[in-house]
Amino acid sequence: MRILMLCSEYEGLIKTGGLADACRGITKALIEAGHEVQVLLPKYATLYALPSTHWESVYFELGSEHFGCAVRHMTQDGVNVGLVEHDQFFQRARPYDDGEHGYVDNPLRFAVFCKAAIEWCRQHQFQPDIIHGHDWQTSLAAVYLRQARAKDDYFHQTRFVFTIHNGAYQEIVSRDWYHRLGLATDNAPLNLLQQGIQAADKINTVSEGYREELLSEPAANGLADLYQQRAADFVGILNGCDYQLWHPNHDQHLVAHYDWPVLAGKETCKDWLRQQYNLPLTDVPLFVAVSRITSQKGFDYLIPALEQWLAQTSAQVLLMGTGESRYTNALFALAARYSEQCCFVMGFDEPLSHQIEAAGDFFLMPSLFEPCGLNQIYSLRYGTIPIVRATGGLKDTVQAYPEKNSTGIHFHQPTQEDLLQALMQADQLYSQPKIYRAMQQRGMAQNFSWQQAGERYQLLYQRAQHK
Ligand code: ADP
Ligand code: GLC
Repeated sequence: MRILMLCSEYEGLIKTGGLADACRGITKALIEAGHEVQVLLPKYATLYALPSTHWESVYFELGSEHFGCAVRHMTQDGVNVGLVEHDQFFQRARPYDDGEHGYVDNPLRFAVFCKAAIEWCRQHQFQPDIIHGHDWQTSLAAVYLRQARAKDDYFHQTRFVFTIHNGAYQEIVSRDWYHRLGLATDNAPLNLLQQGIQAADKINTVSEGYREELLSEPAANGLADLYQQRAADFVGILNGCDYQLWHPNHDQHLVAHYDWPVLAGKETCKDWLRQQYNLPLTDVPLFVAVSRITSQKGFDYLIPALEQWLAQTSAQVLLMGTGESRYTNALFALAARYSEQCCFVMGFDEPLSHQIEAAGDFFLMPSLFEPCGLNQIYSLRYGTIPIVRATGGLKDTVQAYPEKNSTGIHFHQPTQEDLLQALMQADQLYSQPKIYRAMQQRGMAQNFSWQQAGERYQLLYQRAQHK
């Protein structure tokens, strides 16, 4: 099949979270299965230095305005990537916000990206079987494809598949936007995610568990009726793990390598990281997290739970992330108070994220909701036992202790008390090396390859074509 992959992030080029990993993982799996995939991505400021092989222009109308973009072509690790260039809209270092607030012109920026994609197909004779969009940033491509299909035959075979990586990001804006974005006007505020769900031929989200949650409120954030209406076209496809990038035996970012059953390299990674961040090299468990620092990730109760726990344990905690200052300030304060035990690294650092995965004994993911989650999947492979809230993809990928086949620790309520219980359970587990090691072994043997996900996407594409 010929597939146009519309992404707002792509691992190795631009990343704010797991969306980047997923867009690359799905693309690579489809190419390995023999499909032709063309990726399109906005050309953000950080991508200007990349050399391109050639470029093409695209002109189009949106609302009552005329636009022109260039598509700069390049390859990344064997994948054809087209960077959609429009200086005014995309030449910004961060994709969606200035660090604190979302850009006010986001609806128009991503509408231009979507329209440019559809018009590039037409103006440069690229007739896809499937256009695959990810999250609200690409929703309008589904609508523009329908408009184009109504006009003539060019896209008569093209179908739109829409993947929801996070149903909480909907981009709801005032009704003034309808006209500017080339949409039929309505009295309701414009909800971009909703537009994509309505206009796509098939929809999926990134785990079965999260799909179930989206069928009712409050998880659906107001769209439960719509998800239910589209239930027959809506499936859950679990994300995978790129074991070429995330494998402790050949991870290029690690100071030592390891694999089951010889984990001496993991000890080396742990001590190296602790030395870097001035944590004493005592025989205590190291709890880690790498995360976007938002309410989704449970920081409202994680911080007070850590506060309470650090007062009563000798365990160590190392967290890395960027996000909301109300949480980062509290994390700095916590680290200052427990400087022998707790460290907070503010930043977005790819090599360090790998080093932390390898160094930890336990990985914390106390998310309020989690469509899939990738860090717990990486943690399993790195022998770092995940402590997860039993929700969405976390519940689907981590088997709960003390079941026989357990690979991690679950807790249920998003509260300080429940999390504290889980932390104490982890502390206890660490003091029982036989049980801890057996759980590590089961986790390291799990396989979440993108190939499996790729096969399910292929089926979804086929079902979209036969609709
Ligand atoms: P989400 O997409 O909701 O942020 P996921 O667990 O699916 O959560 O994916 C997060 C991805 O982003 C992982 O690859 C993780 O390593 C990466 N990541 C998150 N925060 C950082 C950071 N501060 N530095 C480096 N990588 C990060
Ligand atoms: C989103 C979700 C996360 C998921 C990722 C990739 O950012 O929050 O759970 O793993 O997308 O699909």
